[in-house]
Amino acid sequence: MTQPILITGGTGFIGSHTALVLAQAGVPIVILDNLCNSSPKVLDRLARLGVTPLEFVQADIRDAQALDDLFARHAFEGVVHFAGLKAVGESVAQPLRYLDNNVSGTLSLLQAMERAQVRRVVFSSSATVYGDPAVVPIAESAPLTATNPYGRSKLMCEDALRELHSADPRWRIAILRYFNPVGAHESGLLGEAPNGIPNNLMPYITQVALGQRDALQIFGNDYATPDGTGVRDYLHVMDLAQGHLAALKALGASDTPQLLTVNLGTGQGVSVQQMVDTFAHVNGVPIAHRVVARRPGDVAQCLADPSLAKALLNWQTELGLERMCADAWRWQSMNPQGFDTPL
Ligand code: NAD
Ligand code: UD1
Repeated sequence: MTQPILITGGTGFIGSHTALVLAQAGVPIVILDNLCNSSPKVLDRLARLGVTPLEFVQADIRDAQALDDLFARHAFEGVVHFAGLKAVGESVAQPLRYLDNNVSGTLSLLQAMERAQVRRVVFSSSATVYGDPAVVPIAESAPLTATNPYGRSKLMCEDALRELHSADPRWRIAILRYFNPVGAHESGLLGEAPNGIPNNLMPYITQVALGQRDALQIFGNDYATPDGTGVRDYLHVMDLAQGHLAALKALGASDTPQLLTVNLGTGQGVSVQQMVDTFAHVNGVPIAHRVVARRPGDVAQCLADPSLAKALLNWQTELGLERMCADAWRWQSMNPQGFDTPL
């Protein structure tokens, strides 16, 4: 790839790691982000890792003029589209905000791409589109459903992309359904820096380890799983980032279908209790925890059948649970104030 790739949401958790992977693979990148859930200091950290985007644009994907101006400045080969809001609980309280940001935002981006005749996109979808799966591991052909406005927004974007491809097969589209991304770059310079109280397991664990929170609440130990706690498919964010490079390459090849929908996960289930125990063991830091009631909306088990990603993208995860725990803790302990920590 010699022409640049636009990364929307590129200062966010997954976007920043993907920016690093693409740049280190020699792909010129441009980052667009409105910074609603990320820090501009991510760019300093990328620079310390030797990565300087051709351009950083602080703009919203719903700003058509900003997009047109940007597409006029660069001959993009494609777009990796991460920009979106992702907090499930918040989406239940603010459905219109989520649908506007995620769905109207994606439509606005696709329209700008169409105007600029850039018809290659990699889209961040989520395992949330499988709802409460009847069968695990989950194949891409499993039924799709939405259980909250966040999930609805992902399904609506996926539907829009499928309609677009059937109307105009010149579009090359990869829909990537992520399972549970965790971990951080091994340098400790990039990582996940959620605002407020974390919703997700790994950032909560690292904040307990740091002493910023008293104890992890384990949401239920009466699920039909081996130890009763919820089972998920955690994957290292660097593996996930590599999946985007693999998807871009697959979209460039003439022998792959040009509407790709793949799960990105390990296929391995890890319970909450196993995660707590592994983190404590690997890092030598005990994690205080207590079992509380189930979290409404949670499912017992969610894990990927990742075989299609291997077949279509030649991608599979390389980094195991211990590495996820070690890298997450290195990031959190080096950056107790997230990206505001002076390094
Ligand atoms: P993140 O919040 O760290 O990154 C998203 C970025 O998009 C942020 O930097 C934010 O400022 C930006 N953004 C949001 N709305 C925007 C808009 N309208 N215009 C411009 N920029 C905007 O989240 P993440 O974890 O890196 O997730 C990236 C994508 O992957 C999201 O679409 C998310 O829904 C999806 N996803 C994430 C997970 C996960 O567990 N982290 C799982 C499945 C799917
Ligand atoms: C969350 C999102 C989902 C998204 C997925 C991947 C919710 C309700 N769902 O799901 O839409 O696709 O992340 O990013 O937010 N847990 C605890 N204590 C905690 C936090 C979590 O016990 O403080 C447990 C949960 O019950 C679950 C597991 O840890 O069993 C993982 O939780 P989480 O990290 O929130 O991910 P998901 O539930 O998979």
